[in-house]
Amino acid sequence: MKNEIIGVIGTGVMGGGIAQLFAENGFHTLIWDASEEFTVKGYENIRKRLNKSVEKGKLSLQDSEAIISRIKPVKKIEELAPSGLVIEAIIEDFDSKKKIFSQLENILAPNTVIGTNTSSLSITKLAQTLARPERFMGIHFFNPPTKLELVELIAISGVNPDILQKVKGILSSCGKTAVMAKDSPGFIVNRLLLPFINESAKLVNEGVASVEDIDTAMCLGTLHPAGPLQVADLIGLDVCRNILETLSKSLDDPFYKPAKSMVDLVEAGKLGRKTGQGFYKY
Ligand SMILES: NC(=O)c1ccc[n+]([C@@H]2O[C@H](COP(=O)([O-])OP(=O)(O)OC[C@H]3O[C@@H](n4cnc5c(N)ncnc54)[C@H](O)[C@@H]3O)[C@@H](O)[C@H]2O)c1
Repeated sequence: MKNEIIGVIGTGVMGGGIAQLFAENGFHTLIWDASEEFTVKGYENIRKRLNKSVEKGKLSLQDSEAIISRIKPVKKIEELAPSGLVIEAIIEDFDSKKKIFSQLENILAPNTVIGTNTSSLSITKLAQTLARPERFMGIHFFNPPTKLELVELIAISGVNPDILQKVKGILSSCGKTAVMAKDSPGFIVNRLLLPFINESAKLVNEGVASVEDIDTAMCLGTLHPAGPLQVADLIGLDVCRNILETLSKSLDDPFYKPAKSMVDLVEAGKLGRKTGQGFYKY
């Protein structure tokens, strides 16, 4: 199984982490982004993360070098041809993803799996853009992919069962636990997590409790390891708002409309940890 080559398209937050995950678990991994500059930037970010782990004594220098040696940045999408599994992790834009799939179908061997890491686009609609959708599925990782054990798999009807088994086997060999979800907005985790975060943000609007007390209540009262507003800051409030808007639109339900406190923070550029301020100051 470890002789499968993994291709990763998009080397941003998720693609970079996914490539690192596979390389850490012994897979040779090819990475490609929209330009050579972005591909190299993604590669350097992986190297920096590995160096940090070495500095902290969490990883040996030898292991770090072995991991980075398994990642190869490529200049052209055509160089992903030897891959047995390609995971697309580019921006969340239907037409951009569609274009990538069409290019991949011309390049890849017929039994190569094409997976998308989309959080909110319909797997069914994306599959309809492919000539051979039976080897296509949603493979939804969580941030950071190297650390979070869960992967949601979304296989629409008609997917080749051998493809599903192959993906499950590869993920399991990387220590991941896969759960199956039907193609539905937010799949499992985002469908449950985002309303939870949003209701917490609504409590802030209504002045029911302070940000700190809401998080303390949910940690100590329900055994959550982190409070909902801390989690929101970690995800990014812009990302939370986008997912809620998608849920609200696709489920045609105003319940999912983003809370005013969240929208106000996003409009003020306070997006959470990544900008130094969100519900909390960092
Ligand atoms: N960030 C998260 O927490 C998270 C979690 C799960 C899934 N996702 C999904 O993963 C995907 C990527 O998200 P991200 O947070 O890594 O985004 P990001 O912005 O960090 O990275 C996207 C990368 O895609 C590249 N890209 C854009 N258009 C491209 C194209 N046409 N061809 C090749 N590369 C292209 C960009 O240069 C960038 O490096 C999205 O579909 C998102 O919904 C994100």
